[in-house]
Amino acid sequence: MANSQKIYVAGHRGMVGSAIVRALRQQGEVNIVSRTHAELDLTNQAAVQEFFAEEKPTQVYLAAAKVGGIHANNTYPADFIYENLMVQANVIEAAFQNGVQKLLFLGSSCIYPRMAQQPMREDALLTGTLEPTNEPYAIAKIAGIKLCESYNRQYGVSHGVDYRSVMPTNLYGPGDNYHPENSHVIPALIRRFHEAKLAKAPSVAIWGTGTPRREFLYVDDMAAASVHVMQLPKATYDQHTSPMQSLINVGSGSDVTIAEVAQAIAQAVGYTGQVEFDTSKPDGAPRKWMDSSRLRVLGWQAKVDLCQGLAFAYEDFTSVVANRL
Ligand SMILES: NC(=O)c1ccc[n+]([C@@H]2O[C@H](COP(=O)([O-])OP(=O)(O)OC[C@H]3O[C@@H](n4cnc5c(N)ncnc54)[C@H](OP(=O)(O)O)[C@@H]3O)[C@@H](O)[C@H]2O)c1
Repeated sequence: MANSQKIYVAGHRGMVGSAIVRALRQQGEVNIVSRTHAELDLTNQAAVQEFFAEEKPTQVYLAAAKVGGIHANNTYPADFIYENLMVQANVIEAAFQNGVQKLLFLGSSCIYPRMAQQPMREDALLTGTLEPTNEPYAIAKIAGIKLCESYNRQYGVSHGVDYRSVMPTNLYGPGDNYHPENSHVIPALIRRFHEAKLAKAPSVAIWGTGTPRREFLYVDDMAAASVHVMQLPKATYDQHTSPMQSLINVGSGSDVTIAEVAQAIAQAVGYTGQVEFDTSKPDGAPRKWMDSSRLRVLGWQAKVDLCQGLAFAYEDFTSVVANRL
């Protein structure tokens, strides 16, 4: 398949989009087209149509999205639902209008009900109430899956449309967001342990009891899984999904406690003080873990273990980010 496609990676400067570009280049794909947010605002329908008409990509990885933590999701719910709906609808419709037959949409594990049985299987989608803090974002992501499925159902036979969806677990790695208030667990702790190491702080306090369990996946593994799913033969994809339940979970297959991940980050950073737990602070859900057996059966599994991934992530943090903080 290498070199035969013109591939548009939407969100190529983001953590996942940049990893997808790395993975494609490693495979020998050189015909990759991209635009920065400043060059092409994907909420602008006319601009998106013009871009597709001009570039005529043959494949699309849709890794552009408005992404944020609990605070941002709670403060800007209108932005999260509006922008994500617009980006998805514009890209998917323009892809269809311009003859793109293969597209991969990136969703998120927050599409599953807050009380979903663990590990969360793909068929838990739309079976219960969502977590309220990021419901608008999750609704947009569910709409993204349903957009792909609806185009497949309406235009699969007549136009060869084959739009797929992957649902990543929590990701980390190069290109992560290390903002002090608005970042995910791993980048936030990398930054805090790094700062504590420099300040020779005797201890670092972590919110909650440390007992909740979470699953993490290194972003280059996510990119490899995305390319794998995109390149699966249609008959194979269809055999393992159904027209109105076409999504595929992407996880590492195992989860760890917050205490364990904190210790592993302290070690990767070289912080030798105490790790303490502030049990007056809330814990969140006791466990969030994806069932990735569908993807395993389809021949893919994660390669980078947590300790190795954290070492790579810290290297990225120090080389790229720490100098700018
Ligand atoms: N990170 C995770 O742990 C995680 C977990 C599960 C799922 N995902 C999914 O993976 C996808 C990528 O996430 P990420 O972590 O790579 O996010 P990210 O680092 O924030 O990257 C998102 C990219 O999308 C671009 N973008 C956003 N709005 C745009 C617009 N209106 N027009 C053009 N470009 C726009 C951003 O550009 P600017 O920065 O210039 O705005 C950025 O480059 C998302 O769909 C997310 O839901 C991520």
